[in-house]
Amino acid sequence: MNDGYAVRAEGLEKRYGEKRALDGFDLAVRGGTVHGLLGPNGAGKTTAVRILSTLVRPAGGRATVAGLDVARQAREVRARIGLTGQYAAVDEVLTGRQNLEMFGRLFHLGGKRARERAVELLEQFDLTDAGDKGVDGYSGGMRRRLDLAASMILAPAVLFLDEPTTGLDPRSRGEVWESVRALVADGTTVLLTTQYLEEADKLASRITVIDQGRAIADDTPDGLKNLIGGDRIEVVVAERSEIPRVVKAVARVADGEPEADETELRVHAPVTDRVAALTDVARTLQDEGVRVEDIGLRRPSLDDVFLRLTGHRTEKEAAA
Ligand SMILES: Nc1ncnc2c1ncn2[C@@H]1O[C@H](COP(=O)(O)OP(=O)(O)OP(=O)(O)O)[C@@H](O)[C@H]1O
Ligand SMILES: [Mg+2]
Repeated sequence: MNDGYAVRAEGLEKRYGEKRALDGFDLAVRGGTVHGLLGPNGAGKTTAVRILSTLVRPAGGRATVAGLDVARQAREVRARIGLTGQYAAVDEVLTGRQNLEMFGRLFHLGGKRARERAVELLEQFDLTDAGDKGVDGYSGGMRRRLDLAASMILAPAVLFLDEPTTGLDPRSRGEVWESVRALVADGTTVLLTTQYLEEADKLASRITVIDQGRAIADDTPDGLKNLIGGDRIEVVVAERSEIPRVVKAVARVADGEPEADETELRVHAPVTDRVAALTDVARTLQDEGVRVEDIGLRRPSLDDVFLRLTGHRTEKEAAA
């Protein structure tokens, strides 16, 4: 069951006590692409990655990576994959270069080849200047890139990235995204888990949404966003009597019916030409003397996707 897919999973099951971490999980990842696995805390993302990277055996179902069965051909699978865990594995005391040479020797490259590979990877992940500095002085983004580099020692066919940018500031996040794009341009297939719709949208050509151990959607980023109506313009007014005028102004630029929330004094609607829509509505309302408390564009979030697909909020959102 290879047929152009780098990763396939069918009906994967995994329990921890009473908890069904995976409950009939399906996945198909095309070779040479970034595939996003998007889901909230506890959805089963890491469990899926651990099974696909042969660290954990599934209780049911089956999966192949690079055409090889993860249960029966675990050793062959391991030779073809890289894994970057949710928590970085690099050694703080060593320099970036020493870390990469150490990983190279762990993978039996031999001293000379390990040194050469370290040089190549420092260059590829834009760490040459920082290569001889201790990792304890690296920024979060540099550390994640070093982690990516370490998982690329053997130039794997399939790379599993488990939440590679969680906890990073926007700039570092952007640096990691650049590195991932470069890997895929070189032919690596990437399965990327994330809690951020924006991240999956930026990097992935296809996204599987996971909730409670099951795939609940599998689509392109645009397909998912269309499902939830894409970007929205939102206007909050000071008084209820202003709402009809706002609805009219918003309707002129919206892609669909504006919705008005009378208690929150909020009008919102889907838009495609975001900035033009915002400018137009702001100008119209100002010309008409409408008292606007707030106006802005809102991008759909993982919570919006979830609410639409499952009818319930993610746990984090429900707690907030
Ligand atoms: N080793 C374990 N022992 C017991 N329960 C576990 C174990 N690993 C995972 N679980 C449970 O299985 C479920 C799925 O966990 P998993 O780590 O796969 O989720 P996740 O999508 O990676 O979440 P996060 O976004 O927080 O990393 C959770 O309810 C979790 O508590
Ligand atoms: Mg996880």
